Amino acid sequence: MEVCVVELRECAAWRVRAYTMVIVGVLCLLLSSLVAGASAATIGVGYGTSGDNLPTPEQVVQFLKTLNVTKVKIYNTDANVIRAFANSGIDLSITVPNGDIIHMATDMVFTQNWVIYNLQPFVPATTITTIAVGNEILTSDTADTLNLVPAMQNLHSALVTAGLDASIKVSTPHAFSVLNTSFPPSAGVFRPAYATSVMKPLLDFLALTGSPFMVNIFPYFSYTFNYNTINLDYALLNPNATAVTDKNNGNVYTNLWDAQIDAIVAAMAALGHTDIPIMVTESGWPSLGDATQVGPSMANAQTYNNNLVKLVLADPPKGTPLRPGVATPTYVFSLFNEDLKTGKITEKNWGLYYPDMSPVYSMSLST
Ligand SMILES: *[C@@H]1O[C@H](CO)[C@@H](O)[C@H](O)[C@H]1NC(C)=O
Ligand SMILES: *[C@@H]1O[C@H](CO)[C@@H](O)[C@H](O)[C@H]1NC(C)=O
Ligand SMILES: *[C@@H]1O[C@H](CO)[C@@H](O)[C@H](O)[C@H]1NC(C)=O
Repeated sequence: MEVCVVELRECAAWRVRAYTMVIVGVLCLLLSSLVAGASAATIGVGYGTSGDNLPTPEQVVQFLKTLNVTKVKIYNTDANVIRAFANSGIDLSITVPNGDIIHMATDMVFTQNWVIYNLQPFVPATTITTIAVGNEILTSDTADTLNLVPAMQNLHSALVTAGLDASIKVSTPHAFSVLNTSFPPSAGVFRPAYATSVMKPLLDFLALTGSPFMVNIFPYFSYTFNYNTINLDYALLNPNATAVTDKNNGNVYTNLWDAQIDAIVAAMAALGHTDIPIMVTESGWPSLGDATQVGPSMANAQTYNNNLVKLVLADPPKGTPLRPGVATPTYVFSLFNEDLKTGKITEKNWGLYYPDMSPVYSMSLST
């Protein structure tokens, strides 16, 4: 920004330049928002805390700053974590625990209190940009299926009351398995069990509030369950993978990520929505598994995550065949290996870093 102190004549010229820049800027914004709500290419990281050996939130914030990370997603509303991000320059995405959803859906006083206790003490010092209402509700917490959209609507209303709706968007992360069909990508449709009853009103809500469709995209899971039919290079986003053609429209896919994003784009279009931006709330690859699991390895995790960061941060954005030029903001899953995660060995080994903050393998969260 130039400083306007010298002389009136220069100031006038400066103002003309400034106005021109503003007009050009506004036109660019309008244009890019026409392209399916294009947003800037950003890579964030998921900061899970299911470990008994992790650094303190304050240490984590300092560590993230050294990594130049500017977007972080957490999976709860831990006050100590949210407070640690105050004045950090890092945007935070927080999560409503699944157990709160029924109350949010049915009790506006609960919802207003939720905002009063979980947000108001911390904003604006901590920059909270999105709230994820639960995680993968439609595929993992089916008792709350019909509570999901009312909970989101009530939370948004409570944010309006608190004057926070402009800065904080409300959405909910889905598993990729919300799709009934995902191949070829143009045939993408949501599962009939909730396409009309939940997805349609959910998409209407996202469109109305300018919020992103959140989805967890894991080519790893597609590969490990279908390694006989899915090519590893294609799943790892390696540029030398054999391309796959969508027989319905001739679109050519060179990696599984683009194909999965476009399956979501097609499924939203089938419900009448072509403009809702997609945010990938989780993506990653485990560095260790047990002998029965095909795919987890240090080398594959390193390859996938490095390829992912390059793909997401491509400048200008490459986009996908159905959304050319559109960047997809993405959170890499996850920051640390978490020893208290239950399930298969892979569950403890999604991390880019060990709890002592040394790298599991060499990779960069920026380009
Ligand atoms: C972070 O950004 C600074 C300044 O641009 C740069 O010197 C440093 O290498 C970056 N660190 C990482 C881990 O990318
Ligand atoms: C859902 O998938 C099943 C099995 O692949 C298929 O038979 C059915 O036609 C699909 N339904 C829709 C609505 O796409
Ligand atoms: C593609 O490239 C990767 C990374 O360089 C390499 O490991 C892999 O073997 C290559 N695949 C083929 C089929 O050449």
